[in-house]
Amino acid sequence: MKKVTVHTLLEKKRAKQPITWLTAYDFPMAQFEEKAGIDIILVGDSIGMTTFGYDSTLPVTMDLLIPHTQAVRKGAPNVFLIGDMPYMTYQVCAQEAVRNAGRFMAECGCDAVKLEGGREVLDTVKALIRATVPVVGHLGLTPQSIAMLGGFKAQGRDADAALRLIEDARMLEEAGVCMILLEAVPPEVGKVVAERAGIPIVGIGAGPHVDGQCLIVHDMLGMFDAFTPKFVKKYAAIGEQIVKALNVFKEDVKAGGFPAAEHCYGMPEAESQKLRQLLKNTK
Ligand code: KIV
Repeated sequence: MKKVTVHTLLEKKRAKQPITWLTAYDFPMAQFEEKAGIDIILVGDSIGMTTFGYDSTLPVTMDLLIPHTQAVRKGAPNVFLIGDMPYMTYQVCAQEAVRNAGRFMAECGCDAVKLEGGREVLDTVKALIRATVPVVGHLGLTPQSIAMLGGFKAQGRDADAALRLIEDARMLEEAGVCMILLEAVPPEVGKVVAERAGIPIVGIGAGPHVDGQCLIVHDMLGMFDAFTPKFVKKYAAIGEQIVKALNVFKEDVKAGGFPAAEHCYGMPEAESQKLRQLLKNTK
């Protein structure tokens, strides 16, 4: 796979070739995704829910995400890799944001970092770009703001809210972001944002008219069942297959079917005989 850069993604938008984006949190999944030719991997703070069992993304920290992001980069050297700025790593001040974003770039080999929000994060976005960190915006349902939004709810569903979101996208683009992820908004809103933008607009629940589609890999593979957002399409039932396989293993062990001869290490007959002799002289 040829290295995916910000230029590749821009070319895809211009050529109307849909961009594909998934999350990954570890080395094997990253390898699978690169083999499948996925353009973008986000090591998302959704790891808190999919992998660590929290009920929101808020407890995720830089120290938790860094080793996962390093593992993903090892497994997928050519994808466009995005580090996800955790809660309170960029909201306090621009200086802290630059330090934290710099860790994703220098320690993990990321191509960009993603942060949530519109007009309220413009100064931070500009500070990051001045510090040579490419930034991806995230608008619509922004999970780090669930306390403000009142839960995981679709956004931009009335005209005023939609207009504000469309303006936020323009402001982020003017501030210099290289791409925007648009989450859980009506297709009309996705269409306007994508048509007006010169940068790629990728949707996760933003309808079919955007420049690409993103899903959380645990959702689309059927590996997360706490809840399933409306925008998720399940492409496999891996969780069910895992439980099935584990049950077969358990029954096999109970019935003495595992291990069989082919799973055992051999010992030359002479050594086996010698051992039996030696054992006669021991307790
Ligand atoms: O953390 C995450 O996985 C996200 C998704 C919305 C892609 O930000």
